Amino acid sequence: MKAIVQEKYGNPDVLHYKEVEKPKPKENEILIKIYSSSVTAAHCAMRKGKPIFGRLVIGLTKPKFSIPGTDLAGEIVEVGKDVNKFKVGDQIIAATDAGGGCYAEYISLSEYDVIIAKPNNMNFDEAAAIIEGATTALSFLRDSAKITIGKKILINGASGSIGTAAVQLAKYFGAEVTAVCSSNNIDLVKSIGADYTIDYTKENFNNDKKKYDIIFDTVGKLTFKESKNSLTQNGIFLSPVLRISILLQMLISSKFSKRKVIFSATGLRKPNQKIKDLIFLKELIENNKLVTVLDKKYKLEETTKAHEYVEKGHKRGNVVLAIA
Ligand SMILES: NC(=O)c1ccc[n+]([C@@H]2O[C@H](COP(=O)([O-])OP(=O)(O)OC[C@H]3O[C@@H](n4cnc5c(N)ncnc54)[C@H](OP(=O)(O)O)[C@@H]3O)[C@@H](O)[C@H]2O)c1
Repeated sequence: MKAIVQEKYGNPDVLHYKEVEKPKPKENEILIKIYSSSVTAAHCAMRKGKPIFGRLVIGLTKPKFSIPGTDLAGEIVEVGKDVNKFKVGDQIIAATDAGGGCYAEYISLSEYDVIIAKPNNMNFDEAAAIIEGATTALSFLRDSAKITIGKKILINGASGSIGTAAVQLAKYFGAEVTAVCSSNNIDLVKSIGADYTIDYTKENFNNDKKKYDIIFDTVGKLTFKESKNSLTQNGIFLSPVLRISILLQMLISSKFSKRKVIFSATGLRKPNQKIKDLIFLKELIENNKLVTVLDKKYKLEETTKAHEYVEKGHKRGNVVLAIA
């Protein structure tokens, strides 16, 4: 089968389109034909092996798993003899996180991995693309910030992968959403539910006197220090971007401040929790409460180009590899 292989950390040209051995499912495994796989900002960071302490999880000197890619939508084409949960022909979505393997034509996974049925109102590209952004936004909003009806939230980077999911999920939970993005994306964030918008190229949200219960800096462009005055007394600053400064502020604010800083890593959640999250999101999708914002599609052999584009940091929503 064809796959993208990465033997070392580095620029997009470390990603090689190659012939590799097609996996054979063991007794408790399913073989999935991958139709679509996402390409995300997190994949670019993993490709570079940055931040460096992230290598404790993904491999110290080189990637632990040579085929990158963490999310897929596809169809089951073979099952091991002990498999009970799935059958040939099932259309599924799956998240492999640090295990990778999704930039390929096929993958073999245990039936107990993070796999659920594909939402029936999405195509494979939409279904693969929504996984990372929506699971991350969900864990931050519902579990870290305990968002509820009437909370005021500011979402910075509202036009990105986590951002477009966060805008929709915050609206679903009944919050009042202020979306921060550039001029080109104002219409997009309004179309997915933002109540107010701020164009970061023209104004700074700190300049008005409004206070937010939650500031979700989905793209790691803000600091807690500069955002503090725009938070309510018990306000929460959320960051999915791993930085030493965020970890320090998280520690300090947990002891000495009413305003809290929270970082968490979605990929480190337990498989059972991730399956529950995906089922929750699938129900929202099937009830038309959550849609995928799709930007560009690339072929598997164009993965290097896809990484170059995503790495620029200006995609609108999501990018996928349309594989089959
Ligand atoms: N902790 C976790 O579990 C976890 C999970 C997944 C991802 N992540 C991390 O989360 C981060 C965001 O991921 P993502 O996939 O959502 O990113 P993304 O989709 O690549 O973000 C791109 C968006 O960011 C916007 N943007 C760029 N500069 C901005 C600025 N200064 N102010 C406001 N918006 C700006 C861009 O809009 P314009 O073109 O208009 O500028 C673009 O729409 C990454 O660092 C990723 O590694 C963490």
